[in-house]
Amino acid sequence: MTALLDIHLTGADADAALRADARAGLTAAPKYLPPKWFYDARGSVLFEQITELPEYFPTRTERALLERTADAIAITSGADTIVELGSGSSAKTRLLLDAFRRAESLRRYVPQDVSESALREAMAALAADYPGLELHGVVGDFTAHLDRLPSEGHRMVAFLGGTIGNLLPPERAAFLRALRTALRPGEQFLLGTGLVVDPAVLVPAYDDAAGVTAEFNRNVLHVLNRELGADFDVDAFDHEAVWDAGNEWIEMHLVARRAMTVTVAELDLTVQFAAGEEMCTEVSAKFRPSGVRNMLGEAGFRVVGSWADRDERMALTLATAV
Ligand code: AVJ
Repeated sequence: MTALLDIHLTGADADAALRADARAGLTAAPKYLPPKWFYDARGSVLFEQITELPEYFPTRTERALLERTADAIAITSGADTIVELGSGSSAKTRLLLDAFRRAESLRRYVPQDVSESALREAMAALAADYPGLELHGVVGDFTAHLDRLPSEGHRMVAFLGGTIGNLLPPERAAFLRALRTALRPGEQFLLGTGLVVDPAVLVPAYDDAAGVTAEFNRNVLHVLNRELGADFDVDAFDHEAVWDAGNEWIEMHLVARRAMTVTVAELDLTVQFAAGEEMCTEVSAKFRPSGVRNMLGEAGFRVVGSWADRDERMALTLATAV
């Protein structure tokens, strides 16, 4: 069956983006680094390990929710094309593919990811397991290349895992607007969000006893050392996860254990860290059902279905482009 792969993001583009982000973030006050740079090969493995930790409930909760709701989503949606943003290994997507196949509407799957290798691997496995399914992969950044999504078919765009929470509010609004613009009226958006839950449950999900999340957090410094010739003493940074009750989001920080001078050779940049200085590496916003509805409404979507697990920790929301 047909398998296509569009490449909108080359290694050179990614390198230029990393340089720009590192320069902006390391020279800002307070310093920050965008979370997308966690995910090199090692970071992706660490993230997969996080999803299996006892404390990290979002992945297994969303998977169980999808198992329960995928048929209803398929019937309500009626789409023949599933587009998935940040598809990664496409593991959870199989639940959707199977449901849309049962509903006899499935024709095409469009996985989109920044990692060409992850995409090629996922597509090869799907081609073997779903004969007859048209595959059209897109290597790209979901914040930058929505206007270039393949336009064939009646599409349902899935964005799962709560990743929308990693965007800051203005980025989030711009993303939803761009997505709405990329869709035709009547096409759909399936959004997975983390819900606001007790911080006693939430914080350990981002600060596990085994220290996997700490390694994941510090991995961004390994990325800068390797890609930009930086000399971060990675082990001199502590991991911290904080619930910001005002913004209703988790913030992950790297905290300098002592004063340090760091050189980023390829940026010709020297950066000072004070002892105890915090650098934000990720925001993971949690939502209330009304907040999900509002942000979708403001972007030009109408909610047609929403589902949550029994403990109301994760939600799936199906919305139509108006
Ligand atoms: C990428 C949204 C699934 O914010 O929960 C996991 C990434 N960060 N542990 C999240 C993450 C720390 C994660 N998602």
